Amino acid sequence: MEPFRIAVIDDEPIVCREVKRGLTKEQYDVETFSDGEAALARFDQAGFDLILCDLRLPGSSGLDLLKSVRRRSPDCEVIIITAYSSVDTAIEAIRFGAFHYVTKPIKLADLKSLVKRALDKVLLIREKEALQEALLSQNRPMDFIGNSKPMLEIFRLIGKVAPLDCNVLIQGESGTGKEMVARALHQRNPRSHHPFVSFNCGGFTEELIANELFGHEKGAFTGATETKIGLLEAAHKGTIFLDEIGEMPMSMQVKLLRFVEEHALIRVGGVKAHPMDVRLIAASNQDLKTLVESRGFREDLYYRLNVVNVTLPPLRKRQDDIPLLVRHFLKKYSRAFGKQINCVSNEVLEILIKYPFPGNVRELENIIERAVALSDDTFISDSDLPSDLRELSMSSLEKKTWPSLEEKEKQYIEQVLVKTNYRKNLAAEILKMPRTTLWRKMKQHGLD
Ligand SMILES: Nc1ncnc2c1ncn2[C@@H]1O[C@H](COP(=O)(O)OP(=O)(O)OP(=O)(O)O)[C@@H](O)[C@H]1O
Ligand SMILES: [Mg+2]
Repeated sequence: MEPFRIAVIDDEPIVCREVKRGLTKEQYDVETFSDGEAALARFDQAGFDLILCDLRLPGSSGLDLLKSVRRRSPDCEVIIITAYSSVDTAIEAIRFGAFHYVTKPIKLADLKSLVKRALDKVLLIREKEALQEALLSQNRPMDFIGNSKPMLEIFRLIGKVAPLDCNVLIQGESGTGKEMVARALHQRNPRSHHPFVSFNCGGFTEELIANELFGHEKGAFTGATETKIGLLEAAHKGTIFLDEIGEMPMSMQVKLLRFVEEHALIRVGGVKAHPMDVRLIAASNQDLKTLVESRGFREDLYYRLNVVNVTLPPLRKRQDDIPLLVRHFLKKYSRAFGKQINCVSNEVLEILIKYPFPGNVRELENIIERAVALSDDTFISDSDLPSDLRELSMSSLEKKTWPSLEEKEKQYIEQVLVKTNYRKNLAAEILKMPRTTLWRKMKQHGLD
């Protein structure tokens, strides 16, 4: 295994030198920096597993650096180095996601054990991710991403029915992955060496669909100068995928039913029945059962198609899958655009998890594709998102980073009490409030 990479950032050269010497002895790969900007630039190039960072730095502070690292990478830990006098700020840093802090003068033995604990955590997170990834890829079809309960159930169902030749009806909102399911069913069937033919029934007349699916004989109508093979014939021994089946005109549904029952077709203008061996998969983003009830779809055909039903949940009902999908699409489009982008900031992830995705996975894919195309950095930040999503971020950010007046009051009173060693008279004087008010407020905030 590669040694862990550690960055030490401190403007005192002696601290950098000592820490580097101590940690290099433990077989870590250590680089030192005197300011945060240089360290971040290196982080973007080569990455670190752990960052040890002085709180007070020339330029941006250790706290700023911590926030930038947190935005870039969830699995790099940060330990704050601080003078004893600013332990308060170091504790605040833990709230922003630092692993822990060490006070100066640094005791190397303590530091080493802290570093080891932080790296154990990094390792644990990565092992967990790798395990999840491995587990997932066992069951799920290639590039079909999902780890949420409903998706694992769908992968199980696909595994079960794919090898059988039964008809399958796939339902789900637009962009939920219906075509992916159809392809996965085909891939896992002995038919996979034969064609997978896809046809979208939306918006066509009966004549057009019949012509496309069944083909026609020479002379069937004006302009039919040659015999034309239809898509069902082209899919012989393979799979036909009929998308948006709910939009098929009723008159065409009768013809399809005949084909489903007889496994044979007659080309338009012909008389001879040609036997066909085709597996049928249909999809709809409308609820076909409701359509049957309102007489927009034939009941007999519905039951023929719906031997097995796969219903894909909308993305907003499986938010656990969002981080995985984001990572998948980042990889896909980074490769496609020749860029090195491997993560999104925490804010972006937060926005994406909150967003209801009316266009489901397709919409998420478009958002990431666009962001990768626009980004000039090594990660996606909220400025790479479409403006309507960015607005979501502003409101969430404001809610998150602005504590209420009451919280602030509590913090400040506590701070003064600590400084005065809980001498209430003195504290009340500093706070310029009557002692009785201070006592009441201490009780209210649970500080007594
Ligand atoms: N679970 C998933 N993992 C990876 N990519 C996915 C997943 N689900 C959908 N996609 C991607 O999202 C896009 C839309 O998927 P697909 O075409 O299968 O959806 P659909 O349900 O057929 O949509 P529509 O009803 O609009 O035809 C595709 O680019 C597909 O690759
Ligand atoms: Mg589709």
